[in-house]
This record gives sequence, C-alpha cells and structure tokens, in this order.
Amino acid sequence: MTGRQRACLAEALCAGYGLLDRGAASLDAVEAAIRLLEASGLFNAGVGARLQLDGTRRMDASIMEGAGLKAGAVAGIEQVRHPISAARLVMERTDHVLLVGAPATDFAKHFQLARQARPTPEQRRALRADIRRIGKQTGAAGTVRLFKALARNRKPGLETVGAVALDRAGTVAAGASTGGIALMLPGRVGDTPLIGCGCYADDGAGAVSMTGIGEGIIRLAMAKAITDRLASGKPPADSVRHVLRQLGSRIRGQAGALVLAPDGRFAIRHNTPHMMAGSWDGRGKPTVRDRFP
Ligand code: GLY
Repeated sequence: MTGRQRACLAEALCAGYGLLDRGAASLDAVEAAIRLLEASGLFNAGVGARLQLDGTRRMDASIMEGAGLKAGAVAGIEQVRHPISAARLVMERTDHVLLVGAPATDFAKHFQLARQARPTPEQRRALRADIRRIGKQTGAAGTVRLFKALARNRKPGLETVGAVALDRAGTVAAGASTGGIALMLPGRVGDTPLIGCGCYADDGAGAVSMTGIGEGIIRLAMAKAITDRLASGKPPADSVRHVLRQLGSRIRGQAGALVLAPDGRFAIRHNTPHMMAGSWDGRGKPTVRDRFP
C-alpha cells in the first residue's frame, strides 16, 4: 500500500464517520466514502478503473441499505466519475435494482452525474503491452486460448473499493465500486453490481462489502452467505472466515470482505496476501492496514 493510498483510505473513513457523527444515514456515509476513493484514481474504481480488453472502461457499482432492503446497482457503465452515485439513483429514483451498459450510462447522463475523462494514452499503452504479452487471439478457438492465457496471467486485483456503515438509527448500509479485474473480456461483469454477491445489507443481520476475483464471489453469493451466518447469531469474524474457507477449498477463489454487525462488531478478513482497508469509530485515529488476520 502506498502512502497516498493509506492517506486516501483514512480520509474516506473520516468523511464517512464525520457524516454519521452529525446524524447522517449510513447510506450517505457509504456513498461519501466510496466517492472519495473513486475520485482518487488510486484504486480500481471510478477515475482509476481498469480498461477491458477492447480499451473501454466499463465500471460496476452497487449500494444497499438494511432497513427496507432497498438496493441499486449499475454494470458496464461508462464515462461516469462516480458509479456509486448512479447505483444510488437507481435505488432511489427507479423501481429497479440493476441497470446495465449504455442505458445505465444514459441514465447517469440524464441525472447529470459528473463525467470522467476517457482513458489516458498511458492507460491504453499499458493495456496494449498486456495484450502483446498474452498474444493476439481471434475466432472462437482464439477466445478459448485467450481465457486460458488470461487465467495464467491475471494477478489477483484487490483494489475494488467498498464501505459498510452503521448509523444512529441502527440502520446498516453497504456499497462497492469497481473497474473489474485485469485483462477482462469486453462485457465481463463481476460480483460488485450483483446484490448478495458484491454487497448486502440487512438490519436484522449486518452489512457486507466484497473485494477480490468476482467469479468465485458470485458462485458462492458471498455477501449473502456471510450475512446469513450473521443472522444466525455467528460473530462477524467467524461468519466471514467460514465463507472464505469455502471459497478457498471449493473454488480456489480469492476475496476479502468488510463485515459489520448491527451491534457495531465488525471484521475485515481476506484469503489474499493483502487487503487495503481500515475502520474508525471516532476514537483516536482511523486504523488503516494492508493485512488482516
Ligand atoms: N470484485 C470485482 C470484480 O471481480 O469485478
């Protein structure tokens, strides 16, 4: 973790907690913290989002609150600085949960959400270098070869951003935002915009936000699996450890989770070498680390 990433995470924690301290809703705190991370360009979300293999930046985000189980999400959205705010608008201004692709981008434009610049020449050059490394592939057989090459070349990307929060009213919220994973096929969608996979929030159980390789997270519906264990009375650390063990043993997947119970107990756990994350309850200074037990 770089010093700038550490400072940015601390700033996001302060911004989120500051809102809660002034009586704001957990949903506001989650959105504010994630917006800061998206704007930083230091993580794989918003301004810093990865490019898919065709050179286009398509992003995913979701947000959920635990009082009314309301949720919103966008997938494959383009040219939007804050996909998390587009997700919140889907939740609050439509009867739907998930909008995808060009219509999601049009929806964000309709609400005049801030636009983001197109990928820089440097980002495109980096992608071309990656593609050269795995070799140009064409046709159906080429697609299969590409999948295999991608699986060999992909390093776990853990820079999806997310947040969970608990407000004074006892409502929990969770959100996540991502540019996906390295060397994605165009059109690939990961766990982040899928409610129950990338995030989940229920006042009767808790809030969970996931990071890691989405394919494994989806196959275990990890955010919901963890909240189900919370609902059955298991502590946050036990709940997340159990589901991470399943991910490792059944799927050989890699992920990390932010887990918050409605009584304020929380856990940050991962089965990856590192996970940049932190927490703050207003006492002392925010804790930010890149490894959790
Ligand atoms: N967890 C982010 C993704 O797989 O897209």
